[in-house]
Amino acid sequence: MSATLTRQGGHAAAANDAAARVMQRCALLAKITERPGEILRTFLSPAMDEVHRTMRPWVEAAGMAASVDRAGNLRGVWPAHPEKSQSRLLIGSHLDTVPNAGAYDGILGVLVGLALVEAVAAETLPYGIEVIGFSDEEGTRFSAPFLGSRAVVGELDGTLLDRTDPAGITVRAALEDYAARRPETVPAELAPYTAAYLEFHIEQGPVLENRNLALGVVEGLAGQTRSHIVFRGCAGHAGTTPMNMRRDALAAASEWMTRIEEIVSRFEDAVATVGQIEAEPGAVNVIPGMVRCSLDVRHGKDVVRNAALRAIFDEARAIGRRRGIELEIEQYHEHAAVHLDDNVVALSERAVAQAGYSTIRMTSGAGHDAMVIAPHVPTAMIFLRNPGGLSHHPDESVAEQDVAAALHAGFCFLDTFADWLDASGKKEGQ
Ligand code: HGY
Ligand code: MN
Ligand code: MN
Repeated sequence: MSATLTRQGGHAAAANDAAARVMQRCALLAKITERPGEILRTFLSPAMDEVHRTMRPWVEAAGMAASVDRAGNLRGVWPAHPEKSQSRLLIGSHLDTVPNAGAYDGILGVLVGLALVEAVAAETLPYGIEVIGFSDEEGTRFSAPFLGSRAVVGELDGTLLDRTDPAGITVRAALEDYAARRPETVPAELAPYTAAYLEFHIEQGPVLENRNLALGVVEGLAGQTRSHIVFRGCAGHAGTTPMNMRRDALAAASEWMTRIEEIVSRFEDAVATVGQIEAEPGAVNVIPGMVRCSLDVRHGKDVVRNAALRAIFDEARAIGRRRGIELEIEQYHEHAAVHLDDNVVALSERAVAQAGYSTIRMTSGAGHDAMVIAPHVPTAMIFLRNPGGLSHHPDESVAEQDVAAALHAGFCFLDTFADWLDASGKKEGQ
């Protein structure tokens, strides 16, 4: 097995040293936001430009060639050694956020990848490393997640490119404008001979904390469906319209939302969330004539997710018929459940064990860029314990010691990746 030389000598010491730097950088980048008072960074925004400007010197100081691609992904490349191998390992996560986000969702995985390259005498590695910071995993601006990673794997198709943001700008126009104003950007594509993808991410759930484990090995990611639902009734006077003569869209939507919890409980491990709701006309003395809300449904098995979705919408239709409310349902995003590559997952599991940590295999309820990359490149994910399971919240946190654990496992992964390349016949970049 090729032993990777960590510059600080010994993986544990290097991991502790690097973990402190990762935490400092997460705190620094958390200050970059497009909405004062909270963390918000969206696709191709000036705040993302500022993140790139801040991170580029770090990437270059690590000995990597830094660039930004035409989909706004930040990329750092430590080229493969010409005599050794064409293959490269891709490590990363996303730099964008949900509104009022925490400081670690996505960011941490990019900074862990960068810290691994900084600490490892990468010139000793018989393969190249690319660190990537994806530009849009959350879908906050265009209600279409994974735009950055989809661009890299060539899946930004027509329907996605026509999606508009609240200002009516299409993804296509935003990308054209971005590239036109940044002639230095490079093509958004997967580099040839990318042999595997590894993503570190906070768990965004309570399992590791409940099991008193620092790290988890992800073997699959739940499928997800996102929809918009419009309940269309009839606005009316709040004071003069008898209760039995109303077609109150908000009362119908509320009845439906309270029924969702019972319906979803019939499908073990399924989850459903109404995260967005708006009522019109939104006046205190007017019966709401229209309600628009969102629905996010997930499950590790697609057949169960789709059965739960059908049951939830059947209930909405039944309530609509009873209350004289018309329904419009638009499914705007779906991603099938993903099973990660058994070999690379086993490699990540061995790396965690070699670093001295017990672990469990997990299915991720959260979506990640890994699910977009996985069909194209053997992919693994390592989760870090996430205190309280709290995420998509400003109090999201991670312990420095768990970041050190992840880095230590990362060094062990780099150590054995060369052997995996050999064994899988990918060493010469096939
Ligand atoms: O919504 C998700 O699952 C992820 O945080 N984007
Ligand atoms: Mn997220
Ligand atoms: Mn994330």
